[in-house]
Amino acid sequence: MSTVTFDVEAVRARFSALRQPLAFFDGPGGTQVPDEVIDAVSRYYREANANVSGPYETSRRTEALVAQARSTAARFLGCNPEETIFGANMTTLAFALTRTAGREWKEGDQIIATKLDHDGNVSPWLELAHDMGLEVRLVEIDDDTTLDLGDLERQLSDRTRVVAFPIASNAVGTLSDVHRIVQLAHDAGALAWADAVHYGPHGPIDVVDWGVDVLICSPYKFFGPHLGVAFGRADLLERWRPYKVRPASNTPLGHRFETGTLAHELLAGFVAAVGYIESIGWEAIRAHERALGERFLAELPENVTLYGLPTMEGRVATFAFNVDGVQTRDAATRLGDAGFAVWQGNYYAVEVMKRLGLEESGAVRAGIVHYNTADEVDALLAEIAALSS
Ligand SMILES: Cc1ncc(COP(=O)(O)O)c(C=O)c1O
Repeated sequence: MSTVTFDVEAVRARFSALRQPLAFFDGPGGTQVPDEVIDAVSRYYREANANVSGPYETSRRTEALVAQARSTAARFLGCNPEETIFGANMTTLAFALTRTAGREWKEGDQIIATKLDHDGNVSPWLELAHDMGLEVRLVEIDDDTTLDLGDLERQLSDRTRVVAFPIASNAVGTLSDVHRIVQLAHDAGALAWADAVHYGPHGPIDVVDWGVDVLICSPYKFFGPHLGVAFGRADLLERWRPYKVRPASNTPLGHRFETGTLAHELLAGFVAAVGYIESIGWEAIRAHERALGERFLAELPENVTLYGLPTMEGRVATFAFNVDGVQTRDAATRLGDAGFAVWQGNYYAVEVMKRLGLEESGAVRAGIVHYNTADEVDALLAEIAALSS
């Protein structure tokens, strides 16, 4: 029996934003932030606002903050501080790092991504391929929305430079078999390049245990500010030629891949966001999310078609569905009007939706995170049931 205690009301009391009359099932698009994150951002502006490298107190405070943000990111990702890279968001980091890595490749080299990916882990490769004459292949998805790893094995070749994949799907919630994918990539001599954006709020990341070479995530999906964070293995970051201005420092390693002045105030918020997660603990977060996910799945009304795994095994609590007789956009809008923040469309998961035959219609998406409650889930399900009548 788990000894973890989790008081959802005590957690919610830490978020002023959750006092609004809206049930937030839009976490996959960006979570709410606790007041301690908001306070940390304002405190930075009040007490430490400056650029780095100035010979005065606020600049020194900013330098200390950047170092703290790097060690916090390292703790969050399970790597060394010098292996962390901050950027505007995942997509911007992905375009920058794929370009950088690509400087070592030549025409005819091959990239493998997957049909489970958000386009932020597909289009950067397509654009690089367009410019360099590379080939991009996409791994198939089985009918249950898990990746077809037999297809990955068949597509790997001695020309494969990268296997890019999601840790969790932002559309249907499916988790990837990370160890297996990394092993297949490495056996073929390719880099394992992970998108952890959707997984970020749902569980611990450990880049060393997973064995990934590059991993990118976005703190605004895990209770922090609008920011992107990447891990790059030290020897890669040493070897890759960065796109950087000459006067910018070459240390720490990750900084070579950060262009211009960082969003210092958001780094302050990021440090607070990780502190917030650590104060609750992944065990409690996972147990609560799983219980709510099971409740959602068990009580799904009959007028709902769910896309993806039907139990909480192998998935996070992100649910894509449609409601009989109601157009996707109408369903989401009516839920929004009734006080439920849900998404609709393809959520940039273009290939998944195509594979599911949802290219035109899209689907409604409800994402559960640890600040959601059983009452919210029950109320959402009741509202969904009433949509068809
Ligand atoms: C799985 C996944 N990857 C990438 C992205 C893009 O992230 P960002 O908005 O930080 O560029 C998202 C955003 O929704 C996502 O869910």
